[in-house]
Amino acid sequence: QLTGLTTIIVLGASGDLAKKKTYPALFGLYRNGFLPEGTRIIGYARSNLSLQEFHNRLFEYAKLPTDPIKEQFKEFLKICTYISGQYDKDEDYKRLNKAVEEVESTIESGNKNRVFYMALPPSVFIPVGHGIKKNLYSNKGVNRLIVEKPFGMDLESSRELGKALAPLWREDETYRIDHYLGKEMVKNLLIIRFANVFFGAIWNRQSIANVQITFKEKIGTEGRGGYFDEFGIIRDVMQNHLLQILSIVAMERPISLNSEDVRDEKVRVLRCIPPVEQKDIILGQYTKSEDDTKPGYLDDKTVPPGSNCPTYAAATLWINNERWEGVPFILKCGKALNEQKTEIRVQFQHVPGNVFKNAPRNELVIRVQPNEAVYMKMTNKLPGLSMDTVISELDLTYQRRFSDLKIPDAYEALILDVLKGDHSNFVRDDELDAAWKIFTPILHKIDNEKLKPDPYAYGSRGPAKIDEFVASYGFKRPSETYNWPGRQ
Ligand code: BG6
Repeated sequence: QLTGLTTIIVLGASGDLAKKKTYPALFGLYRNGFLPEGTRIIGYARSNLSLQEFHNRLFEYAKLPTDPIKEQFKEFLKICTYISGQYDKDEDYKRLNKAVEEVESTIESGNKNRVFYMALPPSVFIPVGHGIKKNLYSNKGVNRLIVEKPFGMDLESSRELGKALAPLWREDETYRIDHYLGKEMVKNLLIIRFANVFFGAIWNRQSIANVQITFKEKIGTEGRGGYFDEFGIIRDVMQNHLLQILSIVAMERPISLNSEDVRDEKVRVLRCIPPVEQKDIILGQYTKSEDDTKPGYLDDKTVPPGSNCPTYAAATLWINNERWEGVPFILKCGKALNEQKTEIRVQFQHVPGNVFKNAPRNELVIRVQPNEAVYMKMTNKLPGLSMDTVISELDLTYQRRFSDLKIPDAYEALILDVLKGDHSNFVRDDELDAAWKIFTPILHKIDNEKLKPDPYAYGSRGPAKIDEFVASYGFKRPSETYNWPGRQ
């Protein structure tokens, strides 16, 4: 925990990420009393905004529901100031430094800590990393640097970025955000797995037939096509968010909850995964919706004509270790689909020598969002005079079980971790390297050989081949009629 005075410097403060995620999360921490006493937040960006204009922007975006919360937000704005400047000019950083020093001069003794939040496009990571190290690094307290993806485009560019920043910022000062690691249900994975004897006993290739990790969004890339086209869904979601989930689902028990012990195990399991092969992947790109109301990906003016950028991908990963050899981990993600959800579906083997014919397989579903839940699909006796069976579920739906608890926003949880100096839910340098190794060959193939994605209509379930693809790895749909009651 930081002692003394802490200043949070948000670089890129007038941008989208800062407005949508960083400031609302900082406000959440402020409201709940989690910002250290005396904390000040200084925004820095190129836009030439007055303080009032900057505050108005934050206020309007925040869409606060009630008057008392609006009042609290106004109080919060009193600790938020703004300075405009360039990202490559020492004299601008010096002005910023002056502003920080002014804040710091309000205390006579104690640490003067600085947390730098880079809410910036990757093109300026390196100049800003240099600029703040040279002009703003505190010698009178702790420095912490928060960085957001994309961390490069492939293994090589990620290593280059690492090489440029490593001499400036030590690994223990660096916090690479993957905001999925701040989600309540993702944080719960460690506990589900390692604090319950029954899951521990069946978490292996003997009991588990396949694992699917699915991310679906209803919206397309509307308005964001320019950014998205450079990256595609594999770099945007699969290589980071879904692979992070996979590593926690598949890792061995860490020696302790110490962040390095946790991250050691995550890296170890990632290193057992060979690069994804073309035979184990499906790519898709959405076309206009069947009713013509939603545009196709290529209809977006900001997307280059004829782009082969995938907006959908399914990839099967294999983990070559004692626990998982032969168990397919199927990652699926897409935009402009029929529903919005993220879930982990662990399908168990059939019951050997089952006397109840056609009994479906058990499944454990961990529903990350929306409507957080953990449920186990099981076979039960249909109540009545017969011995007929029926699929039912053991269901821990959060809205029911924890109805009076609020689930914190991922960014709130992660910024609090930074303030506490807890790295467990951030991506370590070697972890990033291991993640890129898995996806770089297939990404190069897609880019260089212009692999063509399969079309799917906006609002559909994805490319037509998807069910066949998943079935080819042994996934068996337990029932055509079963629907989890919490499905929205
Ligand atoms: C971001 C991706 O990292 O995650 C977006 O860049 C995606 O494309 C988003 O929409 C999903 O996050 P969440 O928290 O809304 O599920």
